[in-house]
Amino acid sequence: MWCTLLCTGNRNNIDITWTMDMLRVTTLVLGLLHYVYCCWFGRETIPQQTICPNICRRKYARIVGGCEADIKEHPYQAALILANLDRPYCSGSILNNLWVVTAAHCMNIATITDQMIVRAGTNYWNRGGSTRRISKIIIHPRFQTYDYDIALIKVAQPWQFTESIKPIAMTSTPPSVGTCVIVSGWGHLTQGGVSPMHLHHVDVIILDFNVCAHAYRGLTPRMICAGTPYGGKDACQADSGGPLVVGDKLVGIVSWGYGCAQKHYPGVYANVYVLRNWVMSQINMK
Ligand code: ARG
Repeated sequence: MWCTLLCTGNRNNIDITWTMDMLRVTTLVLGLLHYVYCCWFGRETIPQQTICPNICRRKYARIVGGCEADIKEHPYQAALILANLDRPYCSGSILNNLWVVTAAHCMNIATITDQMIVRAGTNYWNRGGSTRRISKIIIHPRFQTYDYDIALIKVAQPWQFTESIKPIAMTSTPPSVGTCVIVSGWGHLTQGGVSPMHLHHVDVIILDFNVCAHAYRGLTPRMICAGTPYGGKDACQADSGGPLVVGDKLVGIVSWGYGCAQKHYPGVYANVYVLRNWVMSQINMK
């Protein structure tokens, strides 16, 4: 049938040549468009399908794309609270009975040791659970802007572990691109919005470093990006210092991003795999 359509009478050869040429041109044009789309905008290597199990079943679930979580799902999650501040400040993750890991930029204010309280074991940042005062803060010595954005908090009395208060281990392998990860916290539910009382969480995907570098200049190996191809899910202000986990391992610490949940602007996290040795040396020594 194709032959009857394409090859009629003595114009056979001309038509076949013409068709072949058109095919070549089309392939070339499509190839060019594909190149421009993929390489220029850097979109292709972002995994297109979400392999995450849907962690949010409720209909109007939120936290920039997530929903309410139970502290028993994230028992390592701790809220960092500042006295006289009536909103959550930052988060941290419990590493053992004395140490909490957070972002260095959360610790970068004066007299923080007297003013800050760490609260764990509750769904609400402002009530319940157990609270601890801080006895020591160690900021990564190479912390600058958002590079090496990691700090350790020593609590004044050890945590008593329960169903709602448990330590988390740091990953000993780098998470692969496309892995489903979960970020949790009491941060803003929308960009420029308000913080919830109740803990929220959302699933995102580990992104390729070079793809993320298309969005952000100044990305360093101490950073790892996570998001979704179309935005809509992310950490946000006041989630900083909080955990990004895969299974039962800590892979990232909420650090920065352009706005929240914007298309092509994923969340940037401190890369726990890369910073792990520094943490271990500090915790074992001091
Ligand atoms: N720096 C922010 C904070 O202090 C966290 C921003 C995270 N942003 C993002 N789009 N993932 O709370």
